[in-house]
Amino acid sequence: MKPNTSAFVAFALLELFAIATVINISFCKGASCIESEREALLKLKHDLRDPSNRLASWIGNNGDCCKWDGVMCSNFTGHVLELNLQWSNLVGKINPSLLELKHLIHLDLSGNDFQGIQIPKYLASLVNLRYLNLFEANFTGMIPHQLGNLSNLQYLDLGGDYFELQADTVSWLSGLFFLEHLGMSFVNLSKASDSLLVINSLPSLKELMLPFCELHHFPPLSSANFSSLTTLDLSRNQFQGQIPSRLGNLTSLKYLDITSNQFNSAVPGWLSKLNDLEFLSLQSNRLQGNISSLGLENLTSIQSLSLDSNYELGGKIPTSFGRFCKLTFFSMGFTNLSQDVSEILGIFSGCVAYELESLSLRGCQMLYRDPFSISYVGRKISQRTLNFSNSPKIIFLERYLIVG
Ligand SMILES: *[C@@H]1O[C@H](CO)[C@@H](O)[C@H](O)[C@H]1NC(C)=O
Ligand SMILES: *[C@@H]1O[C@H](CO)[C@@H](O)[C@H](O)[C@H]1NC(C)=O
Ligand SMILES: *[C@@H]1O[C@H](CO)[C@@H](O)[C@H](O)[C@H]1NC(C)=O
Ligand SMILES: *[C@@H]1O[C@H](CO)[C@@H](O)[C@H](O)[C@H]1NC(C)=O
Ligand SMILES: *[C@@H]1O[C@H](CO)[C@@H](O)[C@H](O)[C@H]1NC(C)=O
Ligand SMILES: *[C@@H]1O[C@H](CO)[C@@H](O)[C@H](O)[C@H]1NC(C)=O
Ligand SMILES: *[C@@H]1O[C@H](CO)[C@@H](O)[C@H](O)[C@H]1NC(C)=O
Ligand SMILES: *[C@@H]1O[C@H](CO)[C@@H](O)[C@H](O)[C@H]1NC(C)=O
Ligand SMILES: *[C@@H]1O[C@H](CO)[C@@H](O)[C@H](O)[C@H]1NC(C)=O
Ligand SMILES: *[C@@H]1O[C@H](CO)[C@@H](O)[C@H](O)[C@H]1NC(C)=O
Ligand SMILES: *[C@@H]1O[C@H](CO)[C@@H](O)[C@H](O)[C@H]1NC(C)=O
Repeated sequence: MKPNTSAFVAFALLELFAIATVINISFCKGASCIESEREALLKLKHDLRDPSNRLASWIGNNGDCCKWDGVMCSNFTGHVLELNLQWSNLVGKINPSLLELKHLIHLDLSGNDFQGIQIPKYLASLVNLRYLNLFEANFTGMIPHQLGNLSNLQYLDLGGDYFELQADTVSWLSGLFFLEHLGMSFVNLSKASDSLLVINSLPSLKELMLPFCELHHFPPLSSANFSSLTTLDLSRNQFQGQIPSRLGNLTSLKYLDITSNQFNSAVPGWLSKLNDLEFLSLQSNRLQGNISSLGLENLTSIQSLSLDSNYELGGKIPTSFGRFCKLTFFSMGFTNLSQDVSEILGIFSGCVAYELESLSLRGCQMLYRDPFSISYVGRKISQRTLNFSNSPKIIFLERYLIVG
């Protein structure tokens, strides 16, 4: 053997041994934590007040930090992969030593109190993150564009506190090719609405939560790229005019909430294309016209349907609603519904009667009834819980509430 061959063999043996050791450790004992990462976690703890003792297990200079509460490591390498510190009542700053956790893929700091600091730009260096949740964590100010560098993100939630966060643009989202969930509730997006066009370039998006975002213009969703969208919450913004018919092309939607806007069109029939809807709320808008023209009759998966507080929405509940066999919640209070109560109860006596828990028609002035003709056989709303107010025209039906 030539010297360098034998050196090679020796080296190879050494490496084999090293691999065997690692394998032995990982399979028989589980890897213990990396020292630098343990120190980083201790620094993180040092900058946080912890009145609930959530971090009580984070102690010791030799301890296995992989066993600490909220910490999850790789069984093979020992690197910290997850930090789950949500709703832990932690108060204080985020120590930049967090960056030492270079292998982090999941960071949940939601529900803590970071005392009005800005979202740290340096979080953008944690490039392996797939999950980042900062919901309701008392961050303020501008959302840093740098977050657009977290190109592996699948889940991003920055929402939560009362208009404390804002964004002048969201075009930086364009780098988040794998994003499936985007939550920005209560983020003031009034200056960013044009840049919401970027949402069209997120091919994996399934859940888009933009309630309370001070939006006036409807995001120009191009349906072509939205075959995967299942959840859309645009409630509590300031949209006006016609509900955009392009929503009718988001045919995978299961959840659609446009509560509390100022949509004031006659209701178009495009909802009929969203046959997978389980939750639909059009509540508190200014929709006009006839409930029959909403095209709801084929929504056989629907579980919750809210049409309340559209004062100019009238007509009669169609008999087809009796086929909503999964419906548990229906409300159409404070509308111009014009129908006989026994007819309504007749409709809700179909298969829907097995699941229905709440039927609210409070404040409908145009309901007619013959109090002696009422009988109802819903399984979950008992006869006893049907009660009608003294005012002959005002009715409130609910499972537990009885209004006199
Ligand atoms: C493998 O693990 C066993 C039990 O944990 C231990 O006794 C043994 O020394 C380990 N071998 C090596 C090569 O690390
Ligand atoms: C590591 O092993 C533990 C215990 O066997 C297991 O509960 C955990 O899910 C594993 N973690 C990973 C990332 O595979
Ligand atoms: C957020 O932080 C500010 C500044 O420390 C504080 O005054 C406020 O009470 C905090 N808000 C919440 C909801 O914790
Ligand atoms: C993203 O990271 C690259 C380097 O990897 C850097 O040059 C660029 O400025 C970063 N962009 C943002 C928005 O932080
Ligand atoms: C949202 O931002 C706009 C523009 O910066 C501002 O005029 C408006 O008052 C903000 N809204 C809230 C509720 O803070
Ligand atoms: C759809 O997404 C692709 C990227 O996946 C983008 O190039 C294209 O412009 C988008 N189409 C529209 C209509 O926005
Ligand atoms: C919606 O889909 C129809 C065909 O199903 C198409 O003609 C129309 O252009 C689409 N609308 C939008 C806004 O993409
Ligand atoms: C509901 O479905 C039936 C049968 O598939 C169909 O004929 C009808 O046009 C649909 N109604 C609406 C409003 O789409
Ligand atoms: C309510 O409906 C009746 C017809 O049933 C109509 O005459 C009346 O104008 C409607 N009221 C409103 C506020 O739309
Ligand atoms: C509502 O539409 C239905 C079906 O098209 C029709 O029979 C009914 O007369 C309409 N009601 C009103 C108040 O326009
Ligand atoms: C209906 O509600 C009123 C007021 O809550 C109550 O006085 C009355 O007894 C109730 N009637 C029935 C039949 O439960």
